[in-house]
Amino acid sequence: MSVSVIVCNGCCCGNLEKGYDEVPVEFLEQAWVENKLGQEAQLTISGCLGPCSMRNVVLLKSEDRLTWLGGLSGEEDYESLVNWACEYSRSEIEAVLPEGLQKLEFERDEDFELIKINV
Ligand code: FES
Repeated sequence: MSVSVIVCNGCCCGNLEKGYDEVPVEFLEQAWVENKLGQEAQLTISGCLGPCSMRNVVLLKSEDRLTWLGGLSGEEDYESLVNWACEYSRSEIEAVLPEGLQKLEFERDEDFELIKINV
């Protein structure tokens, strides 16, 4: 199964001056390499995805759905994301998000143009 993991590092997400938590881009990129994630779980560090107020946003784009996560903070959340991506990419069935990330899920009402982030 394949999934795109789109991590926002735009104008607000990760912007310490605005009071947002840092987005650990280097950690994520390194984890993707170390775990040989690539084809099945593609990592994109993106510009603003739109819902800035949700703070440190991640969009998971699987074959049949979009899952929005907001408010990621600290190593634990990002490690969970890496572990989930590993499980997802190696599984025949869709891996369930860990509880810690499920709590961060939100619905997005507005239309969203995926074209902007090229996924
Ligand atoms: S900067 Fe991340 S959603 Fe706007």
